[in-house]
Amino acid sequence: MQPSPSEHDPYNGLTRLEPSLPSSAYWDIEAYQRDLDAIWYRSWLLVCREADLAQPLAFRTFRVGTQEIVVLRDDTGELRAFHNTCRHRGSQLCRGSEGRLKARLITCPYHDWSYSLRGDLVRVPSKSLPEGFDKADHPLYRVALSVWRGFVLVNLREDADGSAETSFDPASGDLANWPLETPVSGHMLRKVMNCNWKIFWENFNECLHCPGVHKDLSRLVPIYGRGLMGRDDDPEWARHADNDAPEFPVACGPEPRHGRETGASTALSFPT
Ligand code: FES
Repeated sequence: MQPSPSEHDPYNGLTRLEPSLPSSAYWDIEAYQRDLDAIWYRSWLLVCREADLAQPLAFRTFRVGTQEIVVLRDDTGELRAFHNTCRHRGSQLCRGSEGRLKARLITCPYHDWSYSLRGDLVRVPSKSLPEGFDKADHPLYRVALSVWRGFVLVNLREDADGSAETSFDPASGDLANWPLETPVSGHMLRKVMNCNWKIFWENFNECLHCPGVHKDLSRLVPIYGRGLMGRDDDPEWARHADNDAPEFPVACGPEPRHGRETGASTALSFPT
């Protein structure tokens, strides 16, 4: 006999009626600002794989809410993250979603202030600097960065300390079962969705729509055909514990139909 969900995999679904969010949570500008302040500007955010920035001087840019961030690998091999904004008049520094710096400097395209790859202001072309101006007072605004098992995470909180690992329990769930250091990015798709970020997340994280919308996927991964993501979504899993039909998998998570394989994918989503 397999253990029931209540013994090893607590039932993951609702056990009582819960009201959903009010509709204003999806369109009201103040609700959106609260989301940014309470979640997006203070949480560790997964931005890419470490191997995506394998070469020195490689960079990627990201936008979270109103904030633009550049993540780069410096000439010593260190990964660093900054606000992608010049300290002079706020011009965008690195253009495009990814690229490679031409020199060991980040040079602002507007008036040519240059920063080292550590973010220090090192050159100001103007001949007439005001008295008291000190380059040391104008470094790029740094963004906390942490690498966990090959994933690069950033945190916009000014006082963010520690590492991404301290914000969750890496030993929990099934993560330890996966060789997360080894995947490499094969393809990146960028898509702008005209909806509040919660709409995407709520739909991505449920499979109620799978039988009707993803018929091929549901044939490939039979438990999806029941509108479930894993056996702990099924309050009656124990009743099917000895059923070896593919829609009643033995493992906790979704399994492909016997003889089929699927690839791994990671979805990143930021509010903009
Ligand atoms: S805005 Fe960057 S040098 Fe002026």
